[in-house]
Amino acid sequence: MNLNNVSLTVSAVDMKQYPKTNFKEIAFAGRSNVGKSSLINKLLNRKSLARVSSKPGKTATINFYNIDNTMNFVDLPGYGYAKVSKAEKKKWADMIETYLNTREQLCQVILLVDSRHTPTENDITMLRYIRACCERAVVIATKCDKLSASQLNEHLSDIIKTLSLSGDDIIIPFSTVNGTGVEEFYAYIEEVLEI
Ligand code: GTP
Ligand code: MG
Repeated sequence: MNLNNVSLTVSAVDMKQYPKTNFKEIAFAGRSNVGKSSLINKLLNRKSLARVSSKPGKTATINFYNIDNTMNFVDLPGYGYAKVSKAEKKKWADMIETYLNTREQLCQVILLVDSRHTPTENDITMLRYIRACCERAVVIATKCDKLSASQLNEHLSDIIKTLSLSGDDIIIPFSTVNGTGVEEFYAYIEEVLEI
């Protein structure tokens, strides 16, 4: 995969706007501010292809990134941000649900959780969705640069337990600051693409 050949192809609010590409898609889901857009930039070696903000609620559309005409990465709006209006929350939830329920190209939804915190009820609900549509759960524990190695181990155990991960499931600690997890992520992608 040529990571120099990547672009944001579509920002969709409606399924009619999804790209007509038929290659595999990996979608990134998680709480607002957990680091979905930052992770996409890090993985693609770009500073600001995906818009990032210290304020939650930045990504309000479903953003499709075409990776070298081989695969799409899909940045989903975050959930669980208290300050967003009820109507807006419902709109985003519907948008995410429509995508998850209808997109045939979708081969894995990856759940991002903050490595410092116990997963929320919303995370557990999202993981249930993932189990319904994917063969296994893939979880990324973000911002791990903010923890010491021993704290990280403790927190990973907590996340594994709270989300009931087991068997074929994968958990990858990740940091956009020091690059932890990038290699492991691409090893996983190669497996998905069966290279
Ligand atoms: P929404 O679009 O609101 O759903 O948020 P998001 O999940 O896309 O989060 P975003 O990538 O915008 O990042 C939120 C904040 O977390 C930003 O201030 C990032 O700089 C910060 N951040 C993301 N990843 C990391 C990380 O690995 N380490 C540290 N220290 N900060 C991070
Ligand atoms: Mg975002």
